[in-house]
Amino acid sequence: MLKNTLYKAVQAGAAEVVRFFNSDFKISNKEGVNNLVTEADHASEKAIMDVIRKDFPEHQLLGEESGKLVQDSNYKWIIDPIDGTVNFAHRIPLNCVSIGIEKDGKIIMGVVYNPHINEFFFAEKGKGATLNDKPISVSNETQVLKSCLVTGFPYTYINMPNGPLEIFDKLIRKGVPVRRIGSAAIDLCWVACGRFDGFYEHKLEPWDSAAGFLIVEEAGGKVTNHENELFSIYQHKILATNGKIHDELSGIITNKIAI
Ligand code: IPD
Ligand code: CA
Ligand code: CA
Repeated sequence: MLKNTLYKAVQAGAAEVVRFFNSDFKISNKEGVNNLVTEADHASEKAIMDVIRKDFPEHQLLGEESGKLVQDSNYKWIIDPIDGTVNFAHRIPLNCVSIGIEKDGKIIMGVVYNPHINEFFFAEKGKGATLNDKPISVSNETQVLKSCLVTGFPYTYINMPNGPLEIFDKLIRKGVPVRRIGSAAIDLCWVACGRFDGFYEHKLEPWDSAAGFLIVEEAGGKVTNHENELFSIYQHKILATNGKIHDELSGIITNKIAI
């Protein structure tokens, strides 16, 4: 039933995403100049929440655009109605709907769906991860120098030791390819299916990582904070890899290992 509702919810959100992508939509700013929100984000989130509320009216909800619905339930649905909104606003077909389900504080199921290229990633705790119903697994690369990495940059630059540009600088000076897709949920799923060997970012929110985090773990990868400690979707820094380059990449990011 949970899985069925999750699938219905993500499809309802994606239908709105596709509808607006192929027509006109209003764009506004949340904060700063480029943290955008569009009509499609609101429509997708509403469609998703309507499906969940109908099947599970007592469950808690956490949506990027409408905030929290706190209720007396040990289930929480964590929703990003469009991850990759800047891409969406520029008609770049690299954006997705991401929904994770948390039970008793642990993510137990997640979906990331990019309807533009029809890629549907799903994972259930303990049962593996799939892309369009086929099992997926992380890559086998063992060296950071030979890896293909991906990252993202926050809307408002954060000046901090080992900040986004410092790490990027270190890696690209050594010739390591570091891509920037513009959707953290897609970044995580592309680590899960072996396209990327690792992903790091400095300022994610729960809805960016809730589903992708489980998808990487269930595909055999590892997810921690930058210091290689236990990951929580409620803290900002993330490091997700195939597991084999994890210690080395964490060491490079935290300046403990020279690349
Ligand atoms: C953003 C994307 C982007 C990441 C940002 C997120 P949004 O989410 O995931 O890749 O770099 O940190 O905020 O705003 O498109 O939902
Ligand atoms: Ca997001
Ligand atoms: Ca979003």
